[in-house]
Amino acid sequence: MNRLIFLSLMVLSMAVWSFKQKGSPTIVSFAVPQKWPAPKFDFAKNPLTQEGFELGRKLFYDPVLSRDSTISCASCHLQYTGFTHVDHNVSHGIDGRKGTRNSPVLINLAWSSSFHWDGGVNHIEVQGLNPIQHPAEMDNTMEEVINRLQRSGNYPALFDAAFGSKEITTVRIMKALSQFDLSLVSSNSKYDQVMRKEKGIAFTEQEKKGLKLFRKNCVACHKEPLFTNDFFASNGLPMDPILKDVGRYGITHDPKDSLLFKIPTLRNIEYTFPYMHDGRFRKLKDVLKFYSEGIDLKSKNLHPVLQKKVTLSENDQKDIIAFLYTLTDKEFLFNNKFSFPK
Ligand code: HEC
Ligand code: HEC
Repeated sequence: MNRLIFLSLMVLSMAVWSFKQKGSPTIVSFAVPQKWPAPKFDFAKNPLTQEGFELGRKLFYDPVLSRDSTISCASCHLQYTGFTHVDHNVSHGIDGRKGTRNSPVLINLAWSSSFHWDGGVNHIEVQGLNPIQHPAEMDNTMEEVINRLQRSGNYPALFDAAFGSKEITTVRIMKALSQFDLSLVSSNSKYDQVMRKEKGIAFTEQEKKGLKLFRKNCVACHKEPLFTNDFFASNGLPMDPILKDVGRYGITHDPKDSLLFKIPTLRNIEYTFPYMHDGRFRKLKDVLKFYSEGIDLKSKNLHPVLQKKVTLSENDQKDIIAFLYTLTDKEFLFNNKFSFPK
């Protein structure tokens, strides 16, 4: 049976089952947009529930997770910019401490098989441990987080609603946070509407030219419809001499992985500046200029697709940017479901 149908059937039967059990969490089925591939996350292992999602959302926006209760996940992942830290090259955490990387967007993570720019985290359900314990992010311990949540007025009841008992554990905190992360699906941009052939929606001539150029030069890595192929690559970005970030090599120690980074999605790219793992480019114009003139062609692990020089005239670059703007999904960026919980 098709995995997708199987998943939906299973979610459906669990939903029916959950309605029968008084007081148990309400199963939410994870909607896969039309013609998209199956998600890589196995929802059978952490079924999405209304209560789990809401708990995750509350935790995501709660600074209580940080040592001095000043920084929440949302401090570095702001909804209206695709859940990145707009205008910050590298992340800023507790006591104004700077990290070494640009905060990535949190978009369509259910289709991601590894996390962080270097893929250093292989499962979303452990990802949250990193920012909570990271000295330059939230600088806290799980023991302290659990103590605080246990003492708080309403968290025990929320854990009860989501997981069937008031017990607060690291695993439950991580499951709830990941239910929120995984629910951040963006699939209603102009691009999507055109692809779904919705009435009255069409690309302009410039956007059409841009798409054609995009499919010729970019799609090998920024694959439709997710605008990433979920791999690592070197796009020939020269190493920053101060940050000296070696990317994936830092995890695998395989020389072939030197300077490879996670290929980011380009959805909502209009709003997610600055760009690249170190946020070195402020404008899409700079990014396009980089792909046409700035690629380090001598870079050892440069992806074969980029080894042949990309030639894009100034007009070509403008057309590609016009196309990239069609990936903006305002419904996602301003969806109340994902905003600060009241
Ligand atoms: C101080 C800023 C900061 C805070 C606070 C923060 N993050 Fe992040 N987040 C980052 C940065 C920077 C990265 C990339 C890290 C890397 O590549 O090494 C990241 C990566 C991620 C990723 C992986 C995305 C991907 O596509 O690979 C997820 C998911 C995420 N954060 C969720 C969270 C959650 C949940 C919290 C709260 C528990 C949180 N973040 C708190 C800055 C922050
Ligand atoms: C060989 C694979 C590959 C190709 C081809 C490619 N990219 Fe990328 N792209 C990447 C990788 C890898 C990154 C992240 C690099 C980093 O941060 O060091 C990236 C980053 C970006 C970013 C920044 C995204 C962000 O969130 O910071 C934009 C925008 C972008 N690419 C657009 C394009 C465009 C437009 C084209 C075609 C002209 C293109 N890319 C071709 C691999 C590729």
